[in-house]
Amino acid sequence: MNIAVTEKTPATAAANIGATTADTAAANTATKPAGDAFFSIRDIHAYYGESYIVQGVSLEVRKGEILALLGRNGAGKTSTLRAIARLDDPAMTRGEIWLEGQAVHPMKAFEASRAGIQLVPEDRRIIPGMTVEENLILSQVSPGRGWEIEEIYEHFPRLAERRLQEGITLSGGEQQMLAVARALARDIKLLLLDEPYEGLAPVIVQEIERIVQSIKERGITTIIVEQNAVAALRLSDRAVILDSGELVHTGGAAELLENTELREKYLAI
Ligand SMILES: Nc1ncnc2c1ncn2[C@@H]1O[C@H](COP(=O)(O)OP(=O)(O)OP(=O)(O)O)[C@@H](O)[C@H]1O
Ligand SMILES: [Mg+2]
Repeated sequence: MNIAVTEKTPATAAANIGATTADTAAANTATKPAGDAFFSIRDIHAYYGESYIVQGVSLEVRKGEILALLGRNGAGKTSTLRAIARLDDPAMTRGEIWLEGQAVHPMKAFEASRAGIQLVPEDRRIIPGMTVEENLILSQVSPGRGWEIEEIYEHFPRLAERRLQEGITLSGGEQQMLAVARALARDIKLLLLDEPYEGLAPVIVQEIERIVQSIKERGITTIIVEQNAVAALRLSDRAVILDSGELVHTGGAAELLENTELREKYLAI
């Protein structure tokens, strides 16, 4: 789907985006929003070149909650996650992102990662030529250490069994587990999962669901993007639906599972 629009970036747009690290502290005290959401995004807009993709998305997530971010192919789900992780593409021109009272919108990707936002992309990015354990150790090297290796193995027994196997030789499901485990090896507050169930058998999907549940019990907050909306809703507390880069629904996950009209209109399930 092509939703390219050549709307010009508003003049005030980039005022607080792309500021330096030094500016971050000032932003924190200056414009901290009211309300007590653990994580919130407010009216974010983002572009790939001239293509206007994320068109004013706002959402809130409470601490320890799992939020499903749903929508058809091309709705802008991955782009929204990338904007939250502060990757350069799509370029966020307007809007605010707040994590535990800290302004994330002025940050670069490495700063957002240090602040505890960990994106597990769809392609999983396992490092070739390294074992499972080396992949995990490498994630611990970055500042802000997360779970210890032994703690990870308790939650991911399959990875423990394969600790000396090269990461890219794992099955698809095991690679997904490794990708999630690597995120946990860093200092994590918000886990962003982009299509974690893609290409996986139902039994493996259930295993990953159990892992995400146990991560939730440890107090970690998650946003999950999934084409398998039923599986994502089963796991989630609340859900939002994106369509053509705009939010069209916010509500409880169980309630959306029962809403045939919304499901047919936006999720094709
Ligand atoms: N690098 C890019 N350059 C230009 N346009 C892009 C780029 N990446 C994505 N788009 C466009 O942005 C829109 C939203 O894409 P996005 O990948 O965010 O959708 P999505 O909801 O994640 O879809 P899917 O369910 O297929 O993963 C689409 O129209 C897509 O073609
Ligand atoms: Mg996507």
